[in-house]
Amino acid sequence: MRYKPKFDNVTRKSIVILISGRGSNMQALLEANLPCRVAAVISNRADAPGLAIAERHGIATQVVSHRDYPDRESFEAALAVAIDRYQPDLVALAGFMRILTPNFVARYQGRLINIHPSLLPAYGGLDTHARALKDGVKIHGCTVHFVTSDLDHGPIIIQAAVPVLMNDTPETLAARVLREEHRIYPQAVNWFCRDYLRLDADGKKVLLNRVEQPGITLIAPGLK
Ligand code: GRF
Repeated sequence: MRYKPKFDNVTRKSIVILISGRGSNMQALLEANLPCRVAAVISNRADAPGLAIAERHGIATQVVSHRDYPDRESFEAALAVAIDRYQPDLVALAGFMRILTPNFVARYQGRLINIHPSLLPAYGGLDTHARALKDGVKIHGCTVHFVTSDLDHGPIIIQAAVPVLMNDTPETLAARVLREEHRIYPQAVNWFCRDYLRLDADGKKVLLNRVEQPGITLIAPGLK
């Protein structure tokens, strides 16, 4: 019998990735050998370095600059047209630095996810690493979540925790967290593309199937 891949082009889901800058999470998704097709990368900034990375991977790119529109609504209308051209099953925000209106979020309910560099619900918003250091927390991390109109507070899909070390600066801590972002974001997209993961009808709870829960404790600083 001829080998038939489990995820052929007919059953494969497609995703659109939205970026604003460096694009390292986008790159992690492109290089993760996911069981889905990345249909396009869209940036709200023409100078986003991530665009060139996407092009090197042969992915269609597009710029929808917020500066070309008088208000948030008209920018989002243009963004939605750009996204919907590809009819994606999933829209993945990867360092996309625009706040989205409840209307936009509702349009993509259950198929809009984000990666955030903190253990939500702690440290929503910006400068998460500097704020965590200032507070003296010993454990920090990153979160992939469904996007709702409550900024950085949508239902959580997966988190990774890292220790905060004595001599950390915002930069060293950011680098430690970013390594984990590059692991958990592809994992979340992988689950979504395999239909292991979805948001419940109320848009409040993550439903996750067939996922192991090893239950390892991270204690920082370590016990002696
Ligand atoms: C990441 O830390 C991500 O968690 C946050 O913005 C940063 C984007 O970095 N939302 P990159 O563009 O993916 O390299």
